[in-house]
Amino acid sequence: MKPVPTLEWRIDHLKLLDQRQLPAEEVYIDCRSTAELASAIKTLAVRGAPAIGIAAAYGAVIAAVETPESTNFFKDCGDLLDVLASTRPTAVNLFHCLDIQREILFSSSSKAIAADRLLSSAHRLFEEDLEASRVMGRFGADLLPDGCTVLTHCNAGGLATAGLGTALAVIYEAHARGILSNVYADETRPLLQGARLTSWELQKAGIPVKVLPDSAAASLLRGGTVDAVITGADRVAVNGDSANKIGTYPLALAAFEAGVPFYIVAPVSTFDRGSPDGAHIEIEERGREELAVMAGRQILPDGVEVYNPAFDVTPVKLITSIICEKGVISAPDQIEW
Ligand code: MRU
Repeated sequence: MKPVPTLEWRIDHLKLLDQRQLPAEEVYIDCRSTAELASAIKTLAVRGAPAIGIAAAYGAVIAAVETPESTNFFKDCGDLLDVLASTRPTAVNLFHCLDIQREILFSSSSKAIAADRLLSSAHRLFEEDLEASRVMGRFGADLLPDGCTVLTHCNAGGLATAGLGTALAVIYEAHARGILSNVYADETRPLLQGARLTSWELQKAGIPVKVLPDSAAASLLRGGTVDAVITGADRVAVNGDSANKIGTYPLALAAFEAGVPFYIVAPVSTFDRGSPDGAHIEIEERGREELAVMAGRQILPDGVEVYNPAFDVTPVKLITSIICEKGVISAPDQIEW
């Protein structure tokens, strides 16, 4: 099955499906400078941990081309990589991909060689992510019962990766095997990645999906009709604590209380040796306007402040298994690093 055209390198620029416009419009933007790409990542034109990382890897190519050839080339280009790294703090894939690109940059002997090697590396990261999503889909589907009903949160699909996604790769594979009966997608306040994006891509793939308010998930789980909760992650800490879109933690609590397995699907590029546990994961806080305005209408009185974290951390004790491209980690508090 064809992955969603989330991001594509075109000779000298990165073409992105503008996810801010979905589902109303399927429009593309061309990023030809690091400033354009940094803004696209910050404003969620491209989003989802693996997709952000790969976009930034191509951003390093743009940075190398954009930086004038001079004695300062490597330092100036490195500064542009820092700009890309400053866009979003939680998804570790961004730093993983930029670290790889930085090493290539600083081990190159000229601008032309750096640009060439950075492009090959970005293509390789794209292909690795595509393959990881295929493999994770198979591992995850093996865990699901025949005729299963699953619940997912945010968008961990083709829109969030180079391939078919992480959590949604499992759902696509279960559908292909004929074992999937129902998919529920949390709407995922405040930016509605579930309502706008997950429902869009599943519908496009011919998979029926029901969207529910985030606040309805606990009672749905308690009702006993859901066989598994499956989400992606933005960062997995050494002890297995996992950060994902805000609302994942309460979903995991509700799944635990209802005795429903809670699976995280994430490629190894989302695992962070630098975070011993969830308390060490930086959680992005986003702007007031995301809560103050809905569908173009002001919904908060002037002057009212907001608390708007984009992610939360699910403690490992609530996670049944973590599925990565190397297999199923059924004791996620004992990951072999
Ligand atoms: O703020 P977003 O839309 O980038 O958040 C995305 C998520 O939280 C996803 O669930 C996560 O990146 C996993 S995507 C394969």
